[in-house]
Amino acid sequence: MTSLVSIKQLNEPTIEWLLRRAQYFVDNEPQTYVRGTAVNLFFEPSTRTALSFQIAAQRLGLKMLDFTIENSSTCKGESLIDTLQTVNALGVQLAVVRHGDDWPTLIAEENLRLALVNAGSGHYEHPTQALLDALTIKQHFGGFSGLKVTIVGDIRHSRVARSNKLLLELMGAQVSFSGPEIFYPYDIADCRWVDFDQAVAESDVVMMLRVQHERHQERFDVSDYNGRFGLNSFRLKQMKKDAIILHPGPVNRSVEVTGEVLQDSRCKILQQVANGVAVRMAVLEWCFQEERCEQLVSA
Ligand code: CP
Repeated sequence: MTSLVSIKQLNEPTIEWLLRRAQYFVDNEPQTYVRGTAVNLFFEPSTRTALSFQIAAQRLGLKMLDFTIENSSTCKGESLIDTLQTVNALGVQLAVVRHGDDWPTLIAEENLRLALVNAGSGHYEHPTQALLDALTIKQHFGGFSGLKVTIVGDIRHSRVARSNKLLLELMGAQVSFSGPEIFYPYDIADCRWVDFDQAVAESDVVMMLRVQHERHQERFDVSDYNGRFGLNSFRLKQMKKDAIILHPGPVNRSVEVTGEVLQDSRCKILQQVANGVAVRMAVLEWCFQEERCEQLVSA
């Protein structure tokens, strides 16, 4: 068993292998051969990630238990580490965890026998989102080398931005950021901050991010956001014909993107969602069958 808590633990061949394996799952009938029990532990809301892990597990033949905070002992004050130790004692082998803290760092010193997959840790990482974004990019461009990727919006609060920068730069893409100055991420080293309209005209991939109101101290006014930092019918005309538009979702309609953008053939948001199932199949398989997969990676 192995864990996937950060893009930092992956090298280029392993990423390539996970993407190839995910593409195999896109192109082929569901498999049911991974035996074991996993649990979805989501301490923050989710539609795409939680459901796609459930569907991925179902397609692999893996038993995936559901966990709702409202009906759990979290309400009685049980900590994350005690919850993880409890599900492990119950016979669960892998936990998919989403939590508002940098939970992999918080539990790093604990002696857990449970494998862990990071489904979102505060504003720090969302590795399977970066993998599914990478798969969507690879399906369109065939690779990453030399691609100009601009990630736009609430970068400061975005785990998606951080995981994508790590992954895409490792694979040879050039990653830039843009958006309102208030969302500048002071903790990101080598942060290339660019003019939004120039980026729209020059980028191969424009990745729009949700304004994450729930992580802000004060209400951020979005009344002029789309005009200044959003995609709309005017900016669609400025984009390259062969560029693509990504967004991890959920979308704030008429803020990051307008309805016309969602209808544009360059917009791959639902393809990202669909790829989420295949990528999570590849990740779950890798976690449960690390030894076999590592042999295939190096083959
Ligand atoms: N992209 C993403 O993590 O979406 P959910 O919050 O719906 O899982």
